[in-house]
Amino acid sequence: MKNSNLKSYKIVTFGCQMNARDSEKLAGVLEEKGYTEATDEDTADIVIFNTCTVRENANQKLYGHIGQLKKSYLTNRNKIIGICGCMMQEKDEVEKIVEKYPQVKLIFGTHNIDEFGFLIEEAIGSNKKVIRVYDKSNNVEKTLPTKRVFGFKCGINIMFGCNNFCTYCIVPYVRGRERSRDVDSIVKEIKSSINDGVVEVMLLGQNVNSYKGIASQSYKFKNNYDVTFPELLNEVAKIDGLKRVRFMTSHPKDLSDDLIDVIKNNSNICRHIHLPVQSGSNSILKAMNRHYDRDSYLRVIDKIRSNIEDVGITTDIIVGFPGETENDFEDTLKLINQVSYDAVFTFEYSKRTGTKAAEMDNQVPEDVVKERFKKLLKVVEENSGKNVERYVGKVMDVLVESEDKISGKLTGRLSNNYLVHFNGSQNLIGKIINVKLVKGCKFYFEGEALL
Ligand code: SAH
Ligand code: SF4
Ligand code: F3S
Repeated sequence: MKNSNLKSYKIVTFGCQMNARDSEKLAGVLEEKGYTEATDEDTADIVIFNTCTVRENANQKLYGHIGQLKKSYLTNRNKIIGICGCMMQEKDEVEKIVEKYPQVKLIFGTHNIDEFGFLIEEAIGSNKKVIRVYDKSNNVEKTLPTKRVFGFKCGINIMFGCNNFCTYCIVPYVRGRERSRDVDSIVKEIKSSINDGVVEVMLLGQNVNSYKGIASQSYKFKNNYDVTFPELLNEVAKIDGLKRVRFMTSHPKDLSDDLIDVIKNNSNICRHIHLPVQSGSNSILKAMNRHYDRDSYLRVIDKIRSNIEDVGITTDIIVGFPGETENDFEDTLKLINQVSYDAVFTFEYSKRTGTKAAEMDNQVPEDVVKERFKKLLKVVEENSGKNVERYVGKVMDVLVESEDKISGKLTGRLSNNYLVHFNGSQNLIGKIINVKLVKGCKFYFEGEALL
């Protein structure tokens, strides 16, 4: 039942690649119903916020956006404002929105994405609020239409949810238990995306190394019919026409030698491993429930670097986890200096209701966290650019991704995830070309396209 007054939509996405992928599905459903994408939230007839709740500031962002929409809602009372995603799995947040933001017409959770087609119709066709949030889902196959943000690359879910319960993290609570998709269905989706013009896919999961529930420790116990992540990756890499495959995220505790071998043996698997360490202190890692220590992490890094040429390694760090002492923090700084990452994503610890860490009585005072965060940024800054020099002068493959409107330069991505800026024509976007790396800057290169 399409309301003919409603023509356009805008989906605003917060959070990680999982949400980005979900948003493509939401857009696909709306396009199939005949809606077209609006340029912004104000002019759109339907606005859907796909939320993240991994840190407190992710939540605040949402409230900022809803507040700003009030004006355009008052001029267009038919406007449908919907909210979905991880934050909607939290009862308190849903209650707050219902109470404070009457203009929000539709609320649904991470387990209700596949019902979006019905839910949006319901919201359009009635005067009542539509709220649908399930606690869990066993459904791993979501065959929804899709509208890709980029025509040439896309994310492919290989698993949903997480079983790791790192003590600071809310993801297992809002995304549910780990569910892996079958190989056949993953391969089929990739083949069909290649038919649509995709050249690079990113395999997505909160801990891809535990695909099908087989962590590295238990490889030898696996049944014949089980498929491990390295086996899946190997199979995906062989798909005809797939120029590049990436994956995210790897948990250090489950990264196996097999995985390193598979990457090494397939040139179309991108030379980039995001390996979040979170902390350099053994006692904090233990309290975080990460199941590795500093030494075993460093051994994995060594193995990766000595086997995979030109690999890019990136990480996530949390400062101010409960009980973190000055010494613990120093251990993290030392580890950053030791590893020389290609990029480090830094976060202040954020207390998430319902997690174990939120109950710990040794929370670090905010001013201490802020002070440490500043020091951390300084060390990250000092370390950045350490690895770029050795690439200067090389000619490398680049997937051309975009054009900068102001400088007119193209931006491409190397296999190891570094960006390269160079002159070239817009019709190169989506192609893989050779680029000579002329100058190394901290996080990127300046290059020259060799055509
Ligand atoms: N599954 C991925 C990461 C998912 S969340 C993994 O295990 O690596 C992305 C990052 O957010 C995490 O790596 C962590 O650094 C950060 N993060 C998660 N919960 C957080 C919290 N409560 N406070 C601050 N940072 C957090
Ligand atoms: Fe969160 Fe840990 Fe799962 Fe990553 S592995 S999503 S940090 S619980
Ligand atoms: Fe955020 Fe949910 Fe991803 S909490 S980081 S959008 S899984």
